[in-house]
Amino acid sequence: MHKIIVFPGDGIGPEVTAQAMRVFQKIAKLCKLDFKLEEELAGGASIDKHGVPLTPEALSKAQKSEAVFLGAVGGPKWDSLPSDKRPEKGLLGLRKGLNAFANLRPVKMFPQLEQRSPLKQEIVKGLDFLILRELVSGVYFGMPRGIEKLPNGEERGFNTMAYTTSEIVRIAKMAFEMARKRRKKVTSVDKANVLDVSQLWRKVVIEVAKGYSDVELNHRYVDDCAMQLIRDPKQFDVIVTSNLFGDILSDESAMLTGSIGMLPSASVGDKVAMYEPVHGSAPDIAGKDMGNPLAT
Ligand code: IPM
Ligand code: MG
Repeated sequence: MHKIIVFPGDGIGPEVTAQAMRVFQKIAKLCKLDFKLEEELAGGASIDKHGVPLTPEALSKAQKSEAVFLGAVGGPKWDSLPSDKRPEKGLLGLRKGLNAFANLRPVKMFPQLEQRSPLKQEIVKGLDFLILRELVSGVYFGMPRGIEKLPNGEERGFNTMAYTTSEIVRIAKMAFEMARKRRKKVTSVDKANVLDVSQLWRKVVIEVAKGYSDVELNHRYVDDCAMQLIRDPKQFDVIVTSNLFGDILSDESAMLTGSIGMLPSASVGDKVAMYEPVHGSAPDIAGKDMGNPLAT
């Protein structure tokens, strides 16, 4: 019996997960596997029912499962809530609670979609690289954070972008391991020309690389990488980067393939992994039977 917790979430989340669950049943039958799919609430759906984006019970169920399957969270209905009560907090709580520190976002061009890419066909044809995004640390979780009142009456908002050596080591190792199974090239993306946290990131990645002499390593600043992704995306094999940079670059990269709607992602860590489409809850098309479930 394979226990999978399903969080359909919000927007098109329930629509696409419903289709994926039909596929699960089919696979179960064909391969004689026994899946136990249990639904739980996360995001706006959980806020509406329980007043919080993720209950401790739901998280604990996820932690005790074999895998987590998630649709998408968020929508305009909950947009005005304070940041710690928003649907997104539920997703972040799951990532953190599962210690799913490595987010794999493959960027693959389907030949059928070449025409849909905003870039020239020759630039994107056959495109196939992997973004490996650190997912449970960095500026998303760094402390201190908040909005404070200054003596002059102004407010000051702040977050902390921080990484420890061990957090960088584990994601870097995974990048080299993945590259070994691909074209053996890792691009580490940082902002080491400005940020201290990036200087440590780069130093540690270089150190980890010593154990992988068969893999080529290069470094790019995040702004340069954003440009290279448009100029010549085929130069990349595995891109490893921090939480925020990975968030931004993975949306940019997804669009190269013509649609963010077709790409899957996996968030893996120590034990329980979480699988979800890269696209969001797409509230503009929710309920219209238009969401493509392929990524899910
Ligand atoms: C993503 C999303 C999330 C993120 C949001 C929904 C919190 O943009 O998975 O890329 O910022 O990580
Ligand atoms: Mg994102």
